[in-house]
Amino acid sequence: HIKPRLVGGDSACSGRVEILHGNTWTTVCDAHFDLNIASVICNELQCGIALSTPGGAHFGEGEGLIGTEEFQCVGNESLLFSCPRISRVNQTCSHTKDAGVTCSRHTGFRLVNGSSACSGRVEIQVLGAWGTVCDSRWDLPDANVLCHQLDCGFAVSAPGGGYFGKGTGSVWTDTFHCKGTEPHLGHCPVTALGASQCSHDNDAGVNCSGRWESLRLWNGESRCDGRVEISLRGVWGRVLDEQWDMNDASVVCRQLQCGVAEKAYNIPKSEQGTGPVGLRRVQCAGNETRLTLCNISTPETDQAGIAEDVAVVCSGSRQIRLVDGAGRCAGRVEIYYNGTWGTVCDDAWELPDSNVVCKQLGCGYAINATVSAHYGPGSGPIWLDDVNCSGNESDLWGCPSRGWGQHNCRHKDDAGVLCSEFTDLRLVNGSDCAGRLEVFYNGTWGSVCSSPMDSVTMALICKHLDCGDAGSLLNDSTHGSGSGPTWVDGVRCNEQHSSLWQCPSDPWKPQSCNRVEETHLSCQGADELRLADGGSPCAGRVEVKHNDQWGTVCDDGWNMKDAGVV
Ligand SMILES: *[C@@H]1O[C@H](CO)[C@@H](O)[C@H](O)[C@H]1NC(C)=O
Ligand SMILES: *[C@@H]1O[C@H](CO)[C@@H](O)[C@H](O)[C@H]1NC(C)=O
Ligand SMILES: *[C@@H]1O[C@H](CO)[C@@H](O)[C@H](O)[C@H]1NC(C)=O
Ligand SMILES: *[C@@H]1O[C@H](CO)[C@@H](O)[C@H](O)[C@H]1NC(C)=O
Ligand SMILES: *[C@@H]1O[C@H](CO)[C@@H](O)[C@H](O)[C@H]1NC(C)=O
Ligand SMILES: *[C@@H]1O[C@H](CO)[C@@H](O)[C@H](O)[C@H]1NC(C)=O
Ligand SMILES: *[C@@H]1O[C@H](CO)[C@@H](O)[C@H](O)[C@H]1NC(C)=O
Ligand SMILES: *[C@@H]1O[C@H](CO)[C@@H](O)[C@H](O)[C@H]1NC(C)=O
Ligand SMILES: *[C@@H]1O[C@H](CO)[C@@H](O)[C@H](O)[C@H]1NC(C)=O
Ligand SMILES: *[C@@H]1O[C@H](CO)[C@@H](O)[C@H](O)[C@H]1NC(C)=O
Ligand SMILES: *[C@@H]1O[C@H](CO)[C@@H](O)[C@H](O)[C@H]1NC(C)=O
Ligand SMILES: *[C@@H]1O[C@H](CO)[C@@H](O)[C@H](O)[C@H]1NC(C)=O
Repeated sequence: HIKPRLVGGDSACSGRVEILHGNTWTTVCDAHFDLNIASVICNELQCGIALSTPGGAHFGEGEGLIGTEEFQCVGNESLLFSCPRISRVNQTCSHTKDAGVTCSRHTGFRLVNGSSACSGRVEIQVLGAWGTVCDSRWDLPDANVLCHQLDCGFAVSAPGGGYFGKGTGSVWTDTFHCKGTEPHLGHCPVTALGASQCSHDNDAGVNCSGRWESLRLWNGESRCDGRVEISLRGVWGRVLDEQWDMNDASVVCRQLQCGVAEKAYNIPKSEQGTGPVGLRRVQCAGNETRLTLCNISTPETDQAGIAEDVAVVCSGSRQIRLVDGAGRCAGRVEIYYNGTWGTVCDDAWELPDSNVVCKQLGCGYAINATVSAHYGPGSGPIWLDDVNCSGNESDLWGCPSRGWGQHNCRHKDDAGVLCSEFTDLRLVNGSDCAGRLEVFYNGTWGSVCSSPMDSVTMALICKHLDCGDAGSLLNDSTHGSGSGPTWVDGVRCNEQHSSLWQCPSDPWKPQSCNRVEETHLSCQGADELRLADGGSPCAGRVEVKHNDQWGTVCDDGWNMKDAGVV
């Protein structure tokens, strides 16, 4: 029997490849692994399609044996077992070269009932079943990734409210958290826990540009900044110019519908492009609608000396993020402006300002506006100071302030935010790995209801807490009862979920169940024992592993009875 699994990724659909031969799990050498094998594994694990095959122990180094057989899959086999194998007993490989795979549980994506193939209601297939997406959980960066993935350019708009008609089947509770630059929705983190119910009246749609892109920007933080490439006669080529200026950049930003130009620059020699050259020398007046309408030279004409790649930053690349707060929805506020990440000063930093940040990030509303670098000092420019939002602005930079880069602060004054959608998990009134389960939501710790609380769910919780990979429910209220909300009920995890946050459940509600239904949990497998430095496995210093960390035992009261147990 041969059975694959993926270990150490952020979902059951990504991780280090391990293969069960008989009853031994072995890792795979990245030199003997390819996308065809990955496709078969993703398919067999019901993980959708194979997206990439990161090698070099990308998902951490495995332990134990390294497989000595190479699989020779075509890619359409339904089981890894069906692929021919050849022996590689003489390979030299180590765990630093363990192969990995990323695949997606979302197996299909389509746009329905639009006026073209590149607009319509968003429909997603999860493990075979098609369903729609709720407009409250779908935003422009998500739409951008889908448009790109469907070869439809970029997202012009993401109309909700069933604009393209109502779908049938499920409305998925999955929320994608895309930055917008990912190549496939399967690459975006997903959450579902506590998501509110949604009807087909709120089906999300997307209107993609659909145009064949003839211009693109590389290596930026978004589709709206980076090195310029142009497609001429079906071939992408670099754009070289030594007098590249804001007039030229303006035309690029306009053509890409990326707002106005913030910066025009040449790429440092070390980061230059390689491929063929599309344009050599560009001179725009600034009001042209396309780069090819400027005064240009193609490589065939002279100008051979010019060798500097050009790049732009358009205002459409502006972004916001929360950093160093252990999640998307809490942390130091950072803004990407003019090609650089910078911070915000805490002068006059208050809840209305924080609210704009939380809303902008799809993180609910602000619970706390933190000051004095509560989440640690950042680096780079301090972009905004004396921010004074009224609360209805859609972007933080739309609020009154001193202006970009104008401030009288240092990074010890960096502003931060804690938003209502920030979540966390802990066990209380026991040890780190056993106790009453609490979840942080809406600014408050509360309990998790125990129906149902199956072994898959408990395993995910214990893993999240670094407490091994299995747990058991304690039937009595061993660890007291909570006094806060009972936040969530009906948590239904399965093998395809890689964290508790991805599991569907009933919506967040402060009184989800009775106190007697609170979850009391004991995680197992976290504690291990070994004898160190004694020259044999049966003698040595006693060491105990707890919370994934090895430690020693104090000799106070240490006696033969204790040693006997060891
Ligand atoms: C897989 O593809 C090959 C050609 O690439 C074909 O000969 C074979 O029949 C296919 N197998 C299945 C199971 O579809
Ligand atoms: C492995 O190497 C040994 C000696 O180097 C050789 O005799 C043997 O045929 C090799 N086996 C394979 C499968 O290549
Ligand atoms: C298609 O969309 C139109 C609105 O644009 C709507 O009236 C119609 O019912 C939709 N049809 C289907 C099959 O969803
Ligand atoms: C979709 O985009 C096209 C232009 O690309 C525009 O004419 C149309 O009004 C847009 N529809 C919606 C719903 O945004
Ligand atoms: C962006 O930064 C460059 C320097 O790197 C500067 O010359 C330019 O004025 C800045 N643009 C804006 C809009 O702030
Ligand atoms: C651009 O501006 C120049 C004058 O500055 C004008 O002559 C020309 O017609 C304009 N072109 C377009 C496409 O608007
Ligand atoms: C294009 O640029 C070249 C070189 O700078 C110049 O000689 C030529 O007159 C320009 N053509 C137009 C139409 O502006
Ligand atoms: C709220 O913000 C203040 C000011 O930065 C900080 O002292 C406090 O610890 C924060 N509270 C929480 C729960 O983050
Ligand atoms: C913030 O704006 C309000 C008006 O919306 C104004 O009354 C107040 O003085 C401003 N505060 C600061 C610190 O600028
Ligand atoms: C926000 O509300 C204020 C009044 O409270 C109004 O003057 C302003 O135009 C609004 N701004 C936006 C972006 O809606
Ligand atoms: C979160 O807290 C706010 C204010 O305390 C309250 O209005 C809101 O209903 C709460 N949300 C949930 C889901 O309990
Ligand atoms: C902890 O559990 C004990 C029972 O084991 C209970 O008496 C006590 O009230 C609990 N404390 C808290 C803070 O929940």
